[in-house]
Amino acid sequence: MNVLVIGAGGREHALAWKIKQSSKCDNLFVAPGNAGTSAVAENLAIGVNDFEELGKAVLEHEVQLVVVGPEEPLVKGIRNYFASNESLKDVLMVGPDEVGAQLEGSKDFSKAFMVRNNIPTAGSLTVTADSLAEGIKFLSKVEAPYVLKADGLAAGKGVIITEDIKEAEDSLKVMLDGQFGAASSKVLIEEYLHGIELSVFVLTDGKSYMTLPEAKDYKRIGEGDTGPNTGGMGAVSPVSFADEAFMKKVEDKVIKPTVDGLQSDGIDFIGFLFIGLMNVKGEPYVIEYNVRMGDPETEVVMPRIESDFLSHLEAAAKKELHNEQLTIKTETATTVVAVAQGYPGSYEKGRVMSGLDADFKGIVFHAGTTQKGEEIVTNGGRVIASTGLGSDIQSALDQSYGNLQSISWDGMNFRKDIGQDLLAL
Ligand code: AMP
Ligand code: GLY
Repeated sequence: MNVLVIGAGGREHALAWKIKQSSKCDNLFVAPGNAGTSAVAENLAIGVNDFEELGKAVLEHEVQLVVVGPEEPLVKGIRNYFASNESLKDVLMVGPDEVGAQLEGSKDFSKAFMVRNNIPTAGSLTVTADSLAEGIKFLSKVEAPYVLKADGLAAGKGVIITEDIKEAEDSLKVMLDGQFGAASSKVLIEEYLHGIELSVFVLTDGKSYMTLPEAKDYKRIGEGDTGPNTGGMGAVSPVSFADEAFMKKVEDKVIKPTVDGLQSDGIDFIGFLFIGLMNVKGEPYVIEYNVRMGDPETEVVMPRIESDFLSHLEAAAKKELHNEQLTIKTETATTVVAVAQGYPGSYEKGRVMSGLDADFKGIVFHAGTTQKGEEIVTNGGRVIASTGLGSDIQSALDQSYGNLQSISWDGMNFRKDIGQDLLAL
């Protein structure tokens, strides 16, 4: 089949890399892709939210399956656009419709979904400008640290956590006053969960589901989990504390009630569910849902999948996932993300990269890169994700960090401590 992956990051390179290995894959396209995806697929210079041009490309290239990488086109209704267009409505798609995407697009929607379906999560109150006084009262009742979340998509910047109640009150006012535009016209005040985080990934056709390998993400820019949040600076899979007993609880208390809840709510959800969990003394609590794969988690999840992933994607899109059997490699995968100087603040693009044709171990996935004439140059904050594989975390890390020694550009930066917390457990 002909397949189109939408997106331009390390996640999409990893998805394309895995899909390409399938005997079912004829022509593979990525829109818009990066300098890495062009090695496994044909890049199409179309933005992820340009539904009209994406639709035209699907028809022109006779694409049968579309896999949507990032959340934005999903929240904006790419599935609905295809479904309402006579010539596109039969194209298979992995990615939920506008309503399903609200699980990520509105934290208020997803919190209400969790509460309604008895899915363990932090207690919370949703506040608007009209109910500010109630919000201030709620803050005085919960214990520090205080967690404030903009309801809508805010490019990963919409969550504020502070120990200081005065700062929490002020932040609440500023957010409701339009700090994140319409995204913060509602704000959730949440109880703080103490524990260790885990990313769980589920592929579902709305009825059946398969649980993909779990991963741990490293969100902060600085070593020892310090400094501002980023999209993710590294990832490890598997995660030792996600043992059989814990994952059974995740399945019984979170995954099954989530898929059942989607059905009872009449949400026809075909796509990925990325469940951000906190392990609180051995019990799973949902921090958030995303309706896509994680980045950089995909760069460790894909290399651990043994079975034909394109076959699973096709089956999910056709609502035949119950026929599929996922098999997972026992190997450990680690990925280390190298970023541009200044990221996650402002950074420059266009730095010439060298060493990308070295003889790597594992896989070097491209994220923010682009071809410029003969050269590959940086084109984003997160630039590459170096994935290593091995029999344990250390041997995988040796590959991840070994690869990075060959690669360079002006201002390249990466965390040196990915996986160290897991090694110390
Ligand atoms: P979110 O966008 O909801 O994933 O929040 C971003 C990050 O803030 C999460 O990955 C957690 O590290 C942290 N966080 C969010 N909610 C909570 C909470 N209730 N308790 C503790 N940490 C949280
Ligand atoms: N790495 C976290 C995310 O993709 O949202």
